[in-house]
Amino acid sequence: MCGIIGYTGTENDVQDVLMTGLSGLEYRGYDSAGLAIANGSLAVHKREGEVSKLESALPETTLDGVAGIGHTRWSTHGPPSDENAHPHTDCESRVAVVHNGILENYQSLREELTADGHVFNSDTDTEAIPHLIGSALESGAAPEQAFRQAVDRLEGSYAVAAVFQGDETIYVARNESPLVLGVGDDGHYLASDVPAFLEYTDRVIYLEDGQFARVTPSGIVVTDEQGAVVDTAIDTVDWNPEDAGKSGYDHYMLKEIHEQPTALRKCLRERVSELEHEITVEELATLECSGSVQFVACGTSYHAALYGARLLRENGISAQCFLASEYDAQRIPITDETLVVGVTQSGETADTMGALRMANQAGATTLVLTNVVGSSAARECDHVMYIRAGPEIGVAATKTFVSQQAALALLSSELSGSEAPALIKHLRGLPDKLQHVLDESTAQAVAEEFVDADAYFFIGRGYNASVALEGALKMKEITYKHAEGFAAGELKHGPLALVTDQTPVFALVTGDTAAKTIGSIKEVEARGAPVIAVTDRPAEVGQYASHVLEVPDAGPYLTPILANVQLQLVSYWVAAQLGRSIDKPRNLAKSVTVD
Ligand code: F6R
Repeated sequence: MCGIIGYTGTENDVQDVLMTGLSGLEYRGYDSAGLAIANGSLAVHKREGEVSKLESALPETTLDGVAGIGHTRWSTHGPPSDENAHPHTDCESRVAVVHNGILENYQSLREELTADGHVFNSDTDTEAIPHLIGSALESGAAPEQAFRQAVDRLEGSYAVAAVFQGDETIYVARNESPLVLGVGDDGHYLASDVPAFLEYTDRVIYLEDGQFARVTPSGIVVTDEQGAVVDTAIDTVDWNPEDAGKSGYDHYMLKEIHEQPTALRKCLRERVSELEHEITVEELATLECSGSVQFVACGTSYHAALYGARLLRENGISAQCFLASEYDAQRIPITDETLVVGVTQSGETADTMGALRMANQAGATTLVLTNVVGSSAARECDHVMYIRAGPEIGVAATKTFVSQQAALALLSSELSGSEAPALIKHLRGLPDKLQHVLDESTAQAVAEEFVDADAYFFIGRGYNASVALEGALKMKEITYKHAEGFAAGELKHGPLALVTDQTPVFALVTGDTAAKTIGSIKEVEARGAPVIAVTDRPAEVGQYASHVLEVPDAGPYLTPILANVQLQLVSYWVAAQLGRSIDKPRNLAKSVTVD
């Protein structure tokens, strides 16, 4: 949902750093890309489309300058176009601005500035910012003062960065949109997300809402709303640049699917004891839960939350799951004993953040399961548990879903206090079993056979019902084909009318719901539909299905996690054959920071 990058340094390689950063941020939006580099004047280049389009539009000679900012856009105000691409400038091109977020008062600002003679060149909300700065400059303000005065007028969410002609300082401010600063040896960085500058430094400062920063080649000064200098800690991130690259895979998504055994090992490390039958999640040591649990999440994370809620209920804890965008804490009973758990890979999703804030105001205790250290959710919730999946660049979530499910299994054990030796045994064995699925999967052949289908159905019961929903979502996102996921029992209540001999049905047949799901398979088979069973019991189920994708048995709670991996691979290979933009599906962005 828009990515911003900035660099000011002594090596005179600003353009390279910005272009590398923009490539690393492209998963946040790919409607347009642009950069501005400050030297005596301001060099601004921007293009509709992916970063590669910007690259080919740049002059042959590398742009000179010490300080620069860049932006990848996911459109909110105004369609994708060169004009709506960031950076935006004031009328005199004295300042260039990039912004991620939504300005709620941009209409009134625009009217006021237009009445003062400012001419707008785009439909964006962002363009109000450079014009506000321009106004302040005209009234005699120095760059930093002009920037602060402009930011003071903004209502809404923003991570904003500005460079001025003839100035090597980048001015930044943050409110409810992610922004992290990087501390390098030869310069300093800012970005929406760490992978954008991870190649240059792993030392970071997380800016808080309401804070400003002055980023220069020699240092970073963070200030509060009143301008007082704030002491900030420098953290070191434990991701390395390779984690954020493609490592020889054709797509990030395929790489990330293959990283799942490692992601799981990291999630379980030091939490599931090797010798004793114990689960200990240090981050949850002070978490108490005597009431009910409400999960809030969106998309894939919602599917993980459905899985988590079911696990809790099975362990005797009352748990409900809500789509974050539908959550309304005013109308749902909440007491100070209620625990509201946000499941969000990015920790920035506006709908989920909104739900968590509402829950907090209503008096609930909040916990977030997230992948991103220092994310808004991690900083705002009462408790945080990291899923430790490592950077996920592909827009379609894969390894973070698996890590969320594993983390939820740990959470259910911690909250219920159940020893669950069988769960512990299966958790320990899960990474190797997942590796086995990746090594032996015949999903590519299945994808080749059914690539021409117009629609795909996914069915499962119990823990497999959420996997069926996730299988369909993945298929839709990256293949652009119609796909539906159902709790298998619901088929006969309507959707069966859509099933023909041209509708491949993926049936998840594991655990104690297998017998009933076989019943559902028979219903679709009777309509001539090809059935692809994903199962840990191929001999028994194979007789009812035209194809089998086998998974090892990992017990009733965890085998569905393995079944999901087969579905990820099927969707990936269908999309690959169709030549889709797998890592950057149309209209989507990784981190949805608007509600
Ligand atoms: C789908 C996908 C999205 C996200 C959703 C929530 O592959 O990635 O559905 O799951 O936008 O994102 P987070 O988990 O960052 O809150």
